[in-house]
Amino acid sequence: MLDPGAFGYFAGGTGDEFTLRDNVEAFSRWQLRPRVLVDVSEVTTATTVLGREVSMPLLVAPTAFQRLAHPDGELATAGAAAATGTVMCQSTLSSVTPGELATAAPDARLWFQLYWSRDRGFTSDLLARVVEAGFEAVVFTVDFPAAGRRERDLRAAFTLPDDLPTPNIPASLQRQDFHAALGQIVDTTLTWRDLEWLRETCSLPVLLKGILSAEDALLAAEHGAAGVIVSNHGGRQLDGVSASLDALPEVVEAVGGRLEVLMDGGVRRGTDVLKALALGARVVLVGRSVVWGLAVGGQEGARDVLELLRAEVALGLTLLGCRSPGEVTRAHVKSK
Ligand SMILES: Cc1cc2nc3c(=O)[nH]c(=O)nc-3n(C[C@H](O)[C@H](O)[C@H](O)COP(=O)(O)O)c2cc1C
Repeated sequence: MLDPGAFGYFAGGTGDEFTLRDNVEAFSRWQLRPRVLVDVSEVTTATTVLGREVSMPLLVAPTAFQRLAHPDGELATAGAAAATGTVMCQSTLSSVTPGELATAAPDARLWFQLYWSRDRGFTSDLLARVVEAGFEAVVFTVDFPAAGRRERDLRAAFTLPDDLPTPNIPASLQRQDFHAALGQIVDTTLTWRDLEWLRETCSLPVLLKGILSAEDALLAAEHGAAGVIVSNHGGRQLDGVSASLDALPEVVEAVGGRLEVLMDGGVRRGTDVLKALALGARVVLVGRSVVWGLAVGGQEGARDVLELLRAEVALGLTLLGCRSPGEVTRAHVKSK
């Protein structure tokens, strides 16, 4: 349903796409260990993240430029998340402002993903608008000091349509060449010290997205992050890094319950969600699967994907012998 350029943008990774493929393949390297004769007459997929309930251990990951998938773009995705009782994380690279999204989907639970530009005044104004719009958390993406080299986009000479608004980045970057602008939307001088500025500027809990090592997870805990998202940006940044699922255990072990550990990358099935939970993730996020639903059927399509995944998680929990996501433990999985 998508133009080839847009399809390549959504589907692709960087370099040889080793990490893109490995994100999915990593799930086949683990096997579930069900327990039997457990009373599973009542199973719930509900859980909590950052202290608040969600209907399932699966949230909508931030993905940019959703209007390329469907004219309703982010508004449709927020409606789908609201209809299924989960959180949508809005990308900085959206076609609507945080206020517009919150107004259009008043029932949606929203987090905001931050690309932090060199213009501090712009960034603090943006954060103020995020707080004012009632968002619940800020997801600071830390694996993007430069845009990865996405060769599908280069081969297709992919450019953004002229009429695609990007209101959450400084005006000076808005109408630049797509690849040049992507590389300039973040301040490359940022270090751990700047997290203090973020926490002083914005009262919301901050999650760091793009953590792949125990060392960085510990630094995140020391610098007051509320959580980390183990992620390699869906294989779209440094090619050759480990699959998110493979990086998850070392991060979980390092933080030892001091902060919440989330993960994304390669989740395609309810059973993938169960494996991530067993390896210590509080919840997972899904990127491309929701975009495909959005492309096929707008809000309904995105909602169908989320409902399908929720039904798979419910059935998987039942067959695994768990009454809720909280009952899934390390003993429910083994490496192949
Ligand atoms: C088309 C596309 C756009 C994305 N845009 C963003 C973004 O703007 N900000 C961000 O932090 N991550 C972005 N990501 C990464 C996702 O948040 C997430 O880490 C990744 O998609 C998870 O992998 P999955 O697609 O296999 O579920 C993007 C991913 C895709 C596929």
